[in-house]
Amino acid sequence: MSNKTQIDLTKVPKHIAIIMDGNGRWAKVHNQPRVFGHSKGVVSVRDVVEGAGEIGVKHLTLYAFSTENWKRPKLEVSALMQLLVNTISKETDSLNKNNVKLTAIGDLKSLPSSCYSELNKAIEKTSANTGLNLILALSYSAKWELTEAIKQIAKDVQNNTLPVNDITESIINNYLNTKDIPEPELLIRTSGEHRISNFLLWQIAYSELYFSDKLWPDYRKEDLFEAIIDYQKRERRFGLTSEQLTS
Ligand code: FPP
Repeated sequence: MSNKTQIDLTKVPKHIAIIMDGNGRWAKVHNQPRVFGHSKGVVSVRDVVEGAGEIGVKHLTLYAFSTENWKRPKLEVSALMQLLVNTISKETDSLNKNNVKLTAIGDLKSLPSSCYSELNKAIEKTSANTGLNLILALSYSAKWELTEAIKQIAKDVQNNTLPVNDITESIINNYLNTKDIPEPELLIRTSGEHRISNFLLWQIAYSELYFSDKLWPDYRKEDLFEAIIDYQKRERRFGLTSEQLTS
């Protein structure tokens, strides 16, 4: 029986963020180069996107390439960029068929021009879709995002368009890449690592964290459903007491 039948469809998280980890180790286990693990990871991306759409998740953010990933061996970086270009262009029709809107966060201008233009084409072609919002975090890190936001806030204060006393949490939200997206209720990381790795640090202040031991290329929609079932058993207190929540 599919895990899907156990999900309460009225309490599905609106936003799920995933740190897709373990491609390299998966490749090693299978005596293959690391890049092979990344390309197998695309199969998982497809399945998980499909699963998220099936149960009505509104936003799915996938950490596909971090600011720190630029420091990996040149060959791996260029193979990953090529994989992104190929996947994005190959999958655009299928995204449209499934009403998936593609968006991206991160320092997108730092991507190779072929990747940047393919990404923008796909974003444009899927912009009218009203189903799942698939957000790729590319050349992204939370510290980068916060630094950029702080610089912009400082400029706006300096040019008198933002009075210092008007700065609130919600104003800060508006300066982030994720300004139009609700905070993730659930953050999943695969591969048995228990780290956040510079991902959405501001936005996950009250997210539920879920760690799976599966390496990303083995991860499937059934695993996503299992994480959601676990999430639905939790009590989210946001600093309140249990009694306050029930009264
Ligand atoms: C982490 O595994 C994975 C990445 C840095 C890249 C993720 C990319 C994909 C799944 C493929 C393309 C994605 C899209 C959205 C088209 P790792 O290399 O850090 O693995 P390791 O920790 O085992 O070395």
